[in-house]
Amino acid sequence: MGLATPYRRDVQIRAQRDRDQRAVDALVTEAFADEGPQVVSLLGALHRSGALRASLVAVDDEDDDTAGVLGHVALSRGWVDARERLVEVLVLSPLSVTPARQRAGLGTALLAAAREEAVRQGAPAVFLEGDWRYYGDRGYDPGSAHGFERPSARVPGRAFQVTLLPAHEPWMTGRLIYPEAFWSTDTVGLRDPLLAELERATD
Ligand SMILES: CC(C)(COP(=O)(O)OP(=O)(O)OC[C@H]1O[C@@H](n2cnc3c(N)ncnc32)[C@H](O)[C@@H]1OP(=O)(O)O)[C@@H](O)C(=O)NCCC(=O)NCCS
Repeated sequence: MGLATPYRRDVQIRAQRDRDQRAVDALVTEAFADEGPQVVSLLGALHRSGALRASLVAVDDEDDDTAGVLGHVALSRGWVDARERLVEVLVLSPLSVTPARQRAGLGTALLAAAREEAVRQGAPAVFLEGDWRYYGDRGYDPGSAHGFERPSARVPGRAFQVTLLPAHEPWMTGRLIYPEAFWSTDTVGLRDPLLAELERATD
C-alpha cells in the first residue's frame, strides 16, 4: 500500500517488511492459540508459493524499529470459476490482533485497510471464512447472496463471506477456488467434530 493508514495517533497500518516476519509469526501464534502453528504454516506457504498479494501490519510506532506488531492481515490470490473464464479475486486470511489489544477497533481497522488495498489492486471481490456476526457488521455478505459457491462443503454456509468491490461485474460469479497453500496446510473450512458441533448449533 502507499501511505501508512492512520488508525489512532500511536498506531499505524502499513505493508509488512521482511524484518517484521518473526513478530508477525509470534502474533499469529498468540492470536490463534492452538491453531497458531497451522496458521503460521499457511502464511509461509502463501508466501513461498507466490499467492500472497498483501501483508499488512498494525504497529505501535512507525519510526521505532523495535515496535511491536499489534495486528496483521493477509490477502492472497484466489479465483472465481465463472462460466466465461477464471477471475482473479482476493482471499482474506488470516486476520490477527494481539490478545492484549483486542476489542479496541484494531481488527475493524485492519479489515478496512485490507479492503482499501484490494480496491487499489483492482480486485473485484474479497472472500473470507469467519464469524458472520463479526464480518457481517463490517461490510461482508454471505457469498451465496451473490451466487458464489463455497470452495468446500466443510466451510459452513454462513461463514463463507464476500465483499464486492467496484471492479466486480455481474457475470463474475461461480465457485471460489483457493490457492494450493490452503489445501497443503489443511486450513480450508472446519473438520469434525468441530464442524458437526457448529452445524448443530446453527441449525
Ligand atoms: C477476530 C479478531 C481479529 C478481532 O479483532 P479486534 O481488534 O478485537 O476486533 P474489533 O475491536 O474491531 O471488534 C471487536 C468486536 O468484535 C467482536 N468480536 C471479536 N471477535 C469475534 C468473533 N470471533 N465473533 C464475533 N464477534 C467477535 C467483539 O466482541 C467486539 O465486540 P464489542 O466491541 O461489541 O464487544 C481478534 O479477536 C483475533 O485476533 N482473534 C483471534 C484470531 C481469529 O480468530 N481471527 C479471525 C479468524 S476468522
